[in-house]
Amino acid sequence: MIPIKDREAISRMRESCAIAATVLHRLRALVQPGISTFDLDQAGRDLISSYGARSADYGYEIGSRRFPAYTCLSVNEEVVHGIGSLKRILHDGDIISLDVTVEANGYIGDNAITVPVGAIDPQVARLLQTTEEALQLGIRQAQVGHRIGDISHAIQTFVETRGFGVVRDLVGHGVGRTMHEEPQIPNFGRRGKGEEIKPGMTLAIEPMVNLGTYRVKTLADGWTVVTADGLPSAHFEHTVLTAEKGPEILTIARLVSPSTSATSSTTSLSQTTTKSV
Ligand code: MF3
Ligand code: CO
Ligand code: CO
Repeated sequence: MIPIKDREAISRMRESCAIAATVLHRLRALVQPGISTFDLDQAGRDLISSYGARSADYGYEIGSRRFPAYTCLSVNEEVVHGIGSLKRILHDGDIISLDVTVEANGYIGDNAITVPVGAIDPQVARLLQTTEEALQLGIRQAQVGHRIGDISHAIQTFVETRGFGVVRDLVGHGVGRTMHEEPQIPNFGRRGKGEEIKPGMTLAIEPMVNLGTYRVKTLADGWTVVTADGLPSAHFEHTVLTAEKGPEILTIARLVSPSTSATSSTTSLSQTTTKSV
């Protein structure tokens, strides 16, 4: 059963998603050559707590493993679920995927972007643009009366037309009281297939796109998913409400005043500079 959110749940989802988006926006501002992914993760932890939320990643269980970091930070060939490390220093020409998932008032918001570090190869820039656009095309299909396969199909055809590989082993998902709810939202599939979209669903749509083949593998740490061919990968994600009047992106950064001044970040938040993906 796909959970349908009532007014109260939707209002809580708005709050958790706004926090997730605001944290992501502020984390992005810290990306620069020389910073380690450990330091970015610590900044993510502090930002999340400054908004009175908690990381939904930290301690997240798959089997007997618990995720050891507060955000997912995946560099270059890392697709998703990268763990911040003091040894991973960002260099000019890298890309990094930032995936922020928070819980506030019992509901979860989930969003991700991939950003360049300094100047990047034009082919890689095209990979980022394509993935971001694929997300937009997928969101556009999240209409009441459509089916999940319409989202999958729109993403896959666009990405493959551009000559990139769409990851198949990982999928988007419903999101709400828990991070991963029904339905699964693959980034490949057939139009008209899958569950019907009804009003009040909250869906995390998240294409993961590889420069080379779609094949991925998981590193020995049990979490980090990397491309099989070692080429770069991009990831963009939004949490979307399927409203009667059309899809509404919930993970939009807005001015949310921190409940404490726990963060030392001096980044200023401006609504207008937020890139809506
Ligand atoms: N944020 C991820 C998603 O988009 C899931 C993170 S799982 C964790 O679904 F274990 F890495 F935290
Ligand atoms: Co995510
Ligand atoms: Co997700």
